[in-house]
Amino acid sequence: MATPVLHVSQLTKRFGDFTAVDGVSFEVKPGEILGLLGPNGAGKTTTIQMLLGLVTPSGGSICMFGLDLATHRETILQQVNFSSTYISMPQSLTVEENLWVVARLYGLSNIARRVHDIVKKLEMEDFRDKITRKLSSGQMTRLTLAKAFLTEPKILFLDEPTASLDPDIAHKIRALLKEERRSSGLSILYTSHNMREMEEMSDRIIFLQRGRIVAEGTAQEIAARFGKADLEEVFLKLARDSR
Ligand SMILES: Nc1ncnc2c1ncn2[C@@H]1O[C@H](COP(=O)(O)OP(=O)(O)OP(=O)(O)O)[C@@H](O)[C@H]1O
Ligand SMILES: [Mg+2]
Repeated sequence: MATPVLHVSQLTKRFGDFTAVDGVSFEVKPGEILGLLGPNGAGKTTTIQMLLGLVTPSGGSICMFGLDLATHRETILQQVNFSSTYISMPQSLTVEENLWVVARLYGLSNIARRVHDIVKKLEMEDFRDKITRKLSSGQMTRLTLAKAFLTEPKILFLDEPTASLDPDIAHKIRALLKEERRSSGLSILYTSHNMREMEEMSDRIIFLQRGRIVAEGTAQEIAARFGKADLEEVFLKLARDSR
């Protein structure tokens, strides 16, 4: 069996006496797409922020590529990238300038070619010279995705990557994610509130509720376990039970 790219064990985050993530354990295998699902406030973003070393866990461990994030942070993060709405980029630079900054920070070679390719892949030609501050939210999302792809990571953490995209672009992004996984064995952990997207994209899904894993498996397995027709029905049941 392939060594997991990511291994999370008993991960916990407390904010004061509130526990946002409560003893969560899971793995992501090479080339696997894992969906992190759960109602608002379930602990998805907090989990991703811990995986990125942006939030310090209160307990548990995170290993990537067989290394412990607590002790091999720099080596690990070179091979990881992410996109989310909380990302901030220099607002007065253009889209292309921002991609150059990221490429230089990661010490990439062939920057001009890489930037050209990613701009083309994400159909960003129309706004490549726009000042970042002036981007629409969907354009900004595409810039953060471009930033994430640019460094050719081994694992991508995507926090609601398609939330502000129009259906056409969202469709293209899903196709791109699947193609990257197929061609380069990229592993992806992502969140979404779009149940159809979860069903279409995820090899496996982890359902978080109040910081705990309450269900795990393929979309079909989870639906069957709860005696529901699809993921949306499961979501409504679990979310409503918890409120
Ligand atoms: N810095 C913080 N201080 C205190 N509480 C926090 C902090 N960050 C997050 N929380 C709390 O932790 C819980 C989990 O938040 P998180 O952002 O991880 O949820 P989420 O699953 O990503 O939700 P959403 O679907 O709304 O994005 C929430 O109750 C939130 O208020
Ligand atoms: Mg969130």
